[in-house]
Amino acid sequence: MTTTAPSATDRHDALIDRLPPDFRFGAATSAFQIEGATAEDGRTASIWDTFCRVPGAVDNGDTGDIACDHYHRMPEDVALLAALGLDTYRFSVSWPRVQPGGRGPANPAGLDFYDRLVDELLARGVTPWLTLYHWDLPQELQDAGGWPARDTAHRFADYAELVHERLGDRVEHWTTLNEPFCSAVLGHVEGVHAPGGRSLADGVRAVHHLHLGHGLAVRRLRSAARRPLDIAVAHLLGTSRPASGSPADREAARRADAFGFRFYLDPILRGRYPRDLIDDLAARGVRIPVRDGDLEIIAEPVDTLGVNYYRSMRVCGTDERGATVDAHGAPVTRGLPHGGLPVTGLGWEVMPHDLTELLLRIARDYPGVPVIVTENGAAYEDRPDAEGFVDDTERTAYLAAHLAAVAEARVRGADVRGYFAWSLLDNFEWAYGYAQRFGLVRVDYATQTRTPKRSALWLRDTAHRVRGASGHG
Ligand code: FCB
Repeated sequence: MTTTAPSATDRHDALIDRLPPDFRFGAATSAFQIEGATAEDGRTASIWDTFCRVPGAVDNGDTGDIACDHYHRMPEDVALLAALGLDTYRFSVSWPRVQPGGRGPANPAGLDFYDRLVDELLARGVTPWLTLYHWDLPQELQDAGGWPARDTAHRFADYAELVHERLGDRVEHWTTLNEPFCSAVLGHVEGVHAPGGRSLADGVRAVHHLHLGHGLAVRRLRSAARRPLDIAVAHLLGTSRPASGSPADREAARRADAFGFRFYLDPILRGRYPRDLIDDLAARGVRIPVRDGDLEIIAEPVDTLGVNYYRSMRVCGTDERGATVDAHGAPVTRGLPHGGLPVTGLGWEVMPHDLTELLLRIARDYPGVPVIVTENGAAYEDRPDAEGFVDDTERTAYLAAHLAAVAEARVRGADVRGYFAWSLLDNFEWAYGYAQRFGLVRVDYATQTRTPKRSALWLRDTAHRVRGASGHG
């Protein structure tokens, strides 16, 4: 008998089969990316409605006006989820739908939609995993200063309470914010997301006020709750390796780690901002606007940490010409691809091994908090057949490799309890518009027909196998 080396699929399956039967399998979406109906039932504009109208801001001039028309097709979408055997659905609530303008009383018609969604999920045995803020700030709050203004944090806590008042009897899992890094840095420093600002100082203020809003909301939810809630925050995380052993590259990787990773986890899980980050910012004339008592609020314990993972970068401390400071005198911190790796349709390098490393680092540096991978997935150029079916072998392999990476982290000691694929549906991929498709389920935007792709069927079968492996589920 000859033996051959196990294939990648066999290796992945062997790891995945070590997941426990109660491991959560879910899919994620967000309100602005799927709902459409942006002017119905009292909803007012969000910063993304505004940003979509800025010429050149979004590829192809795409908007969220119709998106996947989920607002009108919600029962069909929930049925799809249930048919895929996913036990958890991570969705977000649209702030301008439930509290138009971002202050004052709730809009009952807006809340009705989420009320129906939650009931529909529960009726089909799917656990609702609610995110309060996935980037769609009411435009009126932006006009009043947005996240760089401290008041927005208080407005967010009020909004959290309004949503809880209506849904808290049935929703146990609450995530305050999705990826404050993107809201703050892509939106206020790099200008590529709404509201399109380009100021480091604004971005830093935004991060602090997002953290503060999170902490205030956690307190508000806990004091309003009549039963224990599972409260989380979801962060976009990756690893930052130095591009070489040179001091400039090592220092750049440290800076990137401080600004892109520890800026988010340290205040929440350790109750302080990293000293080196404070010094890096001071050298650039920027201060985090911390007031007495803020850090105690921000570090209010969470029950779960949500980790969104897509890719990692190498970090280089010199520009193309070898200079270590840029034209403004700021130190160069440049992300580079690793090279030689497969890439997704967005050119993002496929690095499942880094997900294992990342989860082990969290277990080591921030012990005691259970983790859920609240987003992971890939855009590829899908080619539907005549029936609309997409045989997305690349996406399937991507999901399998990353789920195996999660399983490996668990075997090595990380407390990871679930994995949610991004995304249930092809949808509005922010500045990339509709051309980039991340869905497990294909959406034909002309007809709004939904067709599960091969990756969806793979996830269904995998979840089934894991649950069944020990006779559960
Ligand atoms: C994450 C976002 C999500 C989606 C994926 C691809 O950063 O949270 O809305 O855009 O990236």
